[in-house]
Amino acid sequence: MHTTVGIVGGGPAGLLLARLLRNAGIDSVTLESRDRAYVEQRQRAGILEQGTVDALRAAGAAERMDREGMVHHGIELRFDRGLHRVDFPALTGGRSVMVYAQTEVVKDLIALQLADGGPLLFGAQVRSVEGADGDRPVIRYVHEGREQTLTCDYVVGCDGFHGVARNAVPESVRTTYERTYPYSWLGILAEAPPVYDELIYAHSTRGFALASMRSPAVSRLYLQVPNHTDPADWPDERIWDELDARFAVDADPGWKLERGPVSAKAVLPMRSSVTEPMRYGRVFLAGDAAHIVPPTGAKGLNLAASDVIVLARALIHEHNTGSAELLDAYSDTCLRRVWRAEHFSYFMTTTLHTDPAQSPFDTRLQLSQLTRLTSSAHAAAELAENYTGLPIG
Ligand code: FAD
Ligand code: DHB
Repeated sequence: MHTTVGIVGGGPAGLLLARLLRNAGIDSVTLESRDRAYVEQRQRAGILEQGTVDALRAAGAAERMDREGMVHHGIELRFDRGLHRVDFPALTGGRSVMVYAQTEVVKDLIALQLADGGPLLFGAQVRSVEGADGDRPVIRYVHEGREQTLTCDYVVGCDGFHGVARNAVPESVRTTYERTYPYSWLGILAEAPPVYDELIYAHSTRGFALASMRSPAVSRLYLQVPNHTDPADWPDERIWDELDARFAVDADPGWKLERGPVSAKAVLPMRSSVTEPMRYGRVFLAGDAAHIVPPTGAKGLNLAASDVIVLARALIHEHNTGSAELLDAYSDTCLRRVWRAEHFSYFMTTTLHTDPAQSPFDTRLQLSQLTRLTSSAHAAAELAENYTGLPIG
């Protein structure tokens, strides 16, 4: 089999790329190792930047998002038992974010691709990508028990942090920059209405907590926990009590979350990682295959989307004009935005979490930074611009 663009991985990056190419009349084949139900249920991100929302609309993939998604115009920061709002439109010239879960974005893109897109194969496990520096790179994969090959004009590795496409870039030209963190998140989904209509990020002496949501009836909540925490050590009541303690504010002593049945519970480790370059020959890396961020600040899904928006533009330019100019610029163009998001995610993470080794001095610095963010329009605008998303490309 031959295609113009072979896409390894059917997560948000691969699926959005397939849609953007289909809309421009460029062939692609997407190979996804998992089955459809697994990909559609995998609990992950929930916040779409303005640029991601705009791109989904332009791609014709926003009909349900515009009906069911919830536009948020700010977030609340809680620290030192006080609360402070950051108003996005006022600080960014009108930008906001959309609460619409990654599971739903993925469902919408899969439905569109299966209805009228290039082939999207589930249960197709890619083993290797070969010949990146030649004219016809090859994807070797196993589907329905048989070994298959797909030759391509271009291959895009959208296969996430544990994918295989990255190995198509020889080790001699590849550099990975990494940082780990001494804490994880315990995340739950709960059948309980969110108690506040925006997200709440809390710094507390007991550690970080985040209140997010998936719908007017479903809350998504996160607690900082030690690395290697076993979720079984956190019965539901312990989670709710701890969340209430971390969100507590002096001005409203009776404030409590609405409790409800917990339908998912998982521990998420945190890491920052960037692999450079994001292109070698005819192989491109996009999304988590090239970089990951700790989740504080909700950048992972949005970076995956912005990579493939830049790449689709470059592939379409090459297709229409024969010029590889934008493809040649792909890695540098993306890495500028990637490193900004890496810094923002690192900043949000280290400002809001309690490092088990941190001193009282470090804590005072965090509180000073948080006070600055909520008392200076300049400092708040820096947060708001990064959170709602910087320009793509
Ligand atoms: P993925 O979503 O990882 O998609 C890669 C796809 O490739 C997968 O479907 C995988 O099955 C497939 N694949 C892998 N290997 C192969 C292979 N060999 N052959 C074929 N297919 C393959 N971000 C946030 O902003 N907020 C959050 O709260 C948040 N929570 C997260 C929780 C978890 C547990 C994880 C892992 C990530 C979370 N993220 C979060 C990050 C965000 O979900 C990712 O940045 C986003 O999914 C990246 O999209 P992607 O398409 O690049 O990669
Ligand atoms: C969500 C995740 C985040 O990392 C974040 O900063 C905000 C919201 C969420 O899953 O809803």
